[in-house]
Amino acid sequence: MSTFSRRGFICGTAALAAMATVPAIAATGIKTLPNGKTEIDLATNASLASVGAVVELDTQKYGKVAVVRTSKSANGFSVISLSCPHAGAIVKQSNGGWVCPPPRGHGSEFALNGNLKVGPAASALKAIKFTATSKKLTIA
Ligand code: FES
Repeated sequence: MSTFSRRGFICGTAALAAMATVPAIAATGIKTLPNGKTEIDLATNASLASVGAVVELDTQKYGKVAVVRTSKSANGFSVISLSCPHAGAIVKQSNGGWVCPPPRGHGSEFALNGNLKVGPAASALKAIKFTATSKKLTIA
């Protein structure tokens, strides 16, 4: 029979909470293709191998976006616009998701994959089409 100490429980819970909130980092190995698409080299952005990892980048077509690793499958990513659908402020990563901070923003909250959690925004962060292989992710 195993026993759990209060201290062990608290430390384990804190470690899980820390893992659930992986801070976004700026993407590297980015190429803008002649057709305006953006290509991200996945070997250069090794953090994206881990589910829950986030990288942020500026794109020619969509402005500031985030790439979120959602599963281990080759296509297991979400690419979302970081422009708030309420009034266009740029959202920031917070508590395992995204928040639209003042003074420009009005406090809307979104899940890490962009789904709306709290208004005043009335919709999710815009999902952006992409294709992915084991080597690169291309934002349409
Ligand atoms: S601009 Fe984001 S909540 Fe208003």
